[in-house]
Amino acid sequence: MIKAVRGTRDLLPPDTALWNHVEATARDVFRAYNFQEIRTPIFEETALFARSVGEETDIVSKEMYTWEDPQTRYVQMRDYYKKALNESNAGRVPSGLVPLSLLAGTDSLTLRPENTAGVVRAYIQHGLEKRGLNKLYYIGPQFRRERPQKGRYRQFYQIGAEVIGPSSSGSESPARDAEVLEMLATLLDRLGITDWNLELNSVGTPADRVQFNEALRKALEPVVGSMCEDCQRRAVTNPLRVFDCKVPGDQPIIETLPRITQFLGEDSRRHFDAVQEILKSVGVPFQINDRLVRGLDYYTRTAFEFTHGALGAQNAILGGGRYDGLSEALGGPAAPGIGFAIGEDRLVMSLQEKSPAESVLRKPDVYIAPLGPGMNAEAARLARELRRHDLVLDLGDESFRLKKSFEAATKAGAKYILIAGENEVKADAFALKNLATGEQVQVPRTELPRTIQAWRAAISQPRSGGIGKPGTEVPG
Ligand code: HAM
Repeated sequence: MIKAVRGTRDLLPPDTALWNHVEATARDVFRAYNFQEIRTPIFEETALFARSVGEETDIVSKEMYTWEDPQTRYVQMRDYYKKALNESNAGRVPSGLVPLSLLAGTDSLTLRPENTAGVVRAYIQHGLEKRGLNKLYYIGPQFRRERPQKGRYRQFYQIGAEVIGPSSSGSESPARDAEVLEMLATLLDRLGITDWNLELNSVGTPADRVQFNEALRKALEPVVGSMCEDCQRRAVTNPLRVFDCKVPGDQPIIETLPRITQFLGEDSRRHFDAVQEILKSVGVPFQINDRLVRGLDYYTRTAFEFTHGALGAQNAILGGGRYDGLSEALGGPAAPGIGFAIGEDRLVMSLQEKSPAESVLRKPDVYIAPLGPGMNAEAARLARELRRHDLVLDLGDESFRLKKSFEAATKAGAKYILIAGENEVKADAFALKNLATGEQVQVPRTELPRTIQAWRAAISQPRSGGIGKPGTEVPG
C-alpha cells in the first residue's frame, strides 16, 4: 500500500472542521485589523531563501526541498534550437555557443520553507511600496525536511501576516510591532487559547550586531572546541546562530555567552522600550527573553515567540519579528517590516486538548428520506428549496427502507428527518420528525423553511459550539 510520505499527513473530517474554524477566526481578526490576503507560489527560486533566511540557518543548510528544474531547461533548449534552425534555414551558420545555463542547469527551485521571503519578493516585484503601508496575511503549507515528531512535520501549515512599506508609511514605528502583537493576543484569546506566553527580545540592527558578533567570537574562542560541530562552524561564519543550538551539552556554555541586549544602540533601545510601553498600555503581558534570536537571519530589532505549555517539546506556537533590511537585501527599495507566522498544526493541537472537532462541526439540520421509487427527484427538489434558507441538508436514496433512512440520519448527526413519500408529494405536505424529541408534524411545503428554522432557534446550543466567542459563524 502506498502511504502518505513520512512527515506529511492527511487532514480528515471531523478534524478539518477545527482547521476551518481556526482559519475563519483568523480571517475575521485580520479583517478587524485591516489586513488583506496575499497568495504567493509554493515554490520559488532557491536563491530567494538563501539570501533572506540565510545560508547558515538550519532551514537553508539542512531542511529545504530543492531540485533542479528540468522543464525550464527544456524550454530554453527548445528556444535555442529553434533559433539555430531558423538561422541555418536562412543559409547562415548558427551563431553563438550553447548558453552555459543550458548545460549547467542553473534553475534551482525550492518548496517554500516559510512565506516571508515570498511576500517580500512579491512586494518588490509588484512595486507595492506605491500603496504605502501593506498589511498582508497568508494561510498555506510550508515545507521543511525536519525530523518528524509530535508538532513537527515536513509539510506543515502557517497562518502569517506581514506589515511592510516605506518608512514614511509608518512601517518602522513601534506602534506597528505592538499592534501585531496585540492582534495575536486577540486571535489566541478568541480561539480560547488563554494560557500563552509571549517572549520578547530585540536582536538589534546589523550595526548593533557588529560589536555583539565580535564579543561573541571572543567569548566563544576558548570554549568552542568542546561544543558541537555545528557550533564550531557557526562560531566562525555566523556566531549569532550558536543560540539556535539544541545540543544539551552545549547549553551551559551558551548560558555564559554575552547577550545582544547588552549591545543595543540608542535607537534600538528606544524602539524596544516603546514597543513594551504600548504593550503594557493595552494589557498584553510579555516576558523578556534575551536568549531569543529566532532561527532566521533576516530579523532586526523586535523578535518574539508565543509558547504554549500543552505542546511539549515543540512549544512555539508562533514566531516573528522585524526584518527592516530584507527588501534591500533582495534588491528592492528600503521597506521596513514586521510579521509573524503561526504554526497552524500546533495551534489546532492546542485546541484539541480542550475542544473536540465535533464542537465546531455543523451537522446536517435535515435528512431527507425519499420513500419509494421515483422519489429521488422529489427529494432533490425539496433539498434544493431548503438549502436556499441557510439549512444544511443531507439526502438518502429511494432504495432505502424507512429504518435504514433513520439509521443514516442518526449517523449523519441530523437534527430532523423529512419524509418524502408518494402520499406526501401528492398532499404537498411532508412528515417532519425531530430526532431528539420524537415530535412529528405534518408541514405544508411552503411552511417547511419557517418550521425548521423555528425548531432550530428553539435549540439553545450555539452553532459554533464550545470554543471561542459565542455565536461565531463556522462554515461546515
Ligand atoms: P518560524 O519560527 O520558522 O518563523 O516558524 C513559525 C512557526 O511555524 C513556528 O513557531 C512553528 O509553530 C511553526 N513551524 C515551524 N516549523 C514547523 C514544522 N516543521 N512543523 C510544524 N510547525 C512548524 C517563520 O517561518 C517566519 N517566516 C515568521 C515570520 C513572519 N517572521 C516575520 N514574518
